[in-house]
Amino acid sequence: MKAKEYLNIMQKILHQVDEGVHVLDSDGNTIIYNNSMSNLEKMSSKDVMKKPFSEVFKNLNNENSTLLKALKLRESTINKKQTYLNKDGKEITTINTTFPVFHGEEIIAVVEVAKNITEMQQLSHKILKLQDEIEKPGEAKFNKIRKYNFNNIIGQSSNFVEVIERAKKASRNSASVFIYGETGTGKELIAQSIHYNSERKDMPFIAQNCAALPETLLEGLLFGTSKGGFTGAIDRAGLFEQANGGTLLLDEINSMPYELQAKLLRVLQENYIRRVGGSKDIPIDVRIIATSNEKPEKILGEGKIRKDLFYRVNVIPLNIPPLRERREDIPLLAEKFINKYNERFNKKVYTLSDNAKEKLLYYSFPGNVRELENIIMGSISLIDDEEILTLEHIGEDDININSITHNINEIEDKGIDDYLADLEKKIILDALEKNDFNISKAAKMLKIKRQTLQHKIKRYEVLIKN
Ligand SMILES: Nc1ncnc2c1ncn2[C@@H]1O[C@H](COP(=O)(O)OP(=O)(O)OP(=O)(O)O)[C@@H](O)[C@H]1O
Ligand SMILES: [Mg+2]
Repeated sequence: MKAKEYLNIMQKILHQVDEGVHVLDSDGNTIIYNNSMSNLEKMSSKDVMKKPFSEVFKNLNNENSTLLKALKLRESTINKKQTYLNKDGKEITTINTTFPVFHGEEIIAVVEVAKNITEMQQLSHKILKLQDEIEKPGEAKFNKIRKYNFNNIIGQSSNFVEVIERAKKASRNSASVFIYGETGTGKELIAQSIHYNSERKDMPFIAQNCAALPETLLEGLLFGTSKGGFTGAIDRAGLFEQANGGTLLLDEINSMPYELQAKLLRVLQENYIRRVGGSKDIPIDVRIIATSNEKPEKILGEGKIRKDLFYRVNVIPLNIPPLRERREDIPLLAEKFINKYNERFNKKVYTLSDNAKEKLLYYSFPGNVRELENIIMGSISLIDDEEILTLEHIGEDDININSITHNINEIEDKGIDDYLADLEKKIILDALEKNDFNISKAAKMLKIKRQTLQHKIKRYEVLIKN
């Protein structure tokens, strides 16, 4: 086979491998530059191929280029870690091996193979940072937590007050609590309030999201590791030990790996932990609060949570109703957030306009209280020196109640009849708004009789004013 054909085949094969490969001939011209190398350095193959290396990479010399070092000084570099900016300005970390290829005494080519470890590098940084935080819990972790108490919780609707009353009772003992609520309903707020209102308040409150980490990492994090437990493991206390005497919030327990749930159950039943790879039983006294943003029946039915574990943590169940089921709390919360962001942004808004209030009252808030807070924050940050927050500030598009995107959670909760009634109510309100609350005009727009509209307005109590 001719050398040229041979090179061609090599080139094709090398385009398929993950490592970047760059080969120069004895004159310093590039003869192989594969796709991975081109992706890494963000240089197009045609700008590099068959060209003199020193011309293409002008800022490289015998000192800082391993390829030139191999070509000019006959030196090999094995597994050298390099961090540099590629042509797009992105920081890349690679492990490089570079060596000359000899024919007798003569160099016929130099080869560089580069493995991209940028992502691995980032991951390892993250893990080290995490370990650092765990080792210095007093400094890093606790101080960052905002301490919430029951005084920070706003809400007067009966279904919400009922839950808060139960939560207050829970703070008088150490039984496990299971909080279910959609995203943004205040699960963390309530969990912290329970802790900081309890006898344990001077001991640590530690929150861990169970969905954030793969099983082995989460296990080590919760229970700690012992030297030799797995390669490179060090002696390190887990969150259970750190939370000793206090409260451990297991957030999104519905996403905890199933196998680990069994180990968690054992710990909760026996009140001691054993570090991963360790042999000593360490007694612990930790109050558990678990949360889920999916309904208990659903996660049980789908087998996302073990029944035995569920019953062990569900001693005090707290179901936080979504905001759309306690609409009377919307104006109260809005007022609180208006005050909060007035102060933060130095504004002087003191109330909502009627149409803004109306709009918020009938919006479905899939993101619950957090979404309401964001809406208010966003509009106050943009306001000039007005004193009333109106629909224009809020931005029609952000909370588009007339767009008919149905909320499956809401349908599940209410059934289709109530859901459709609610939707009709929203459409009517919207039509009224568009027509300056002129009933005849709104009826015309909706293509129904004026009396029919009037009847519906009455039935749905569309025009209640706060
Ligand atoms: N009843 C309330 N009164 C005052 N603020 C509230 C209330 N409920 C929620 N918030 C605020 O809404 C935001 C979201 O609350 P939190 O983080 O407790 O929700 P969550 O249920 O844990 O949400 P996720 O499931 O997304 O983690 C927080 O800023 C919190 O202070
Ligand atoms: Mg939360």
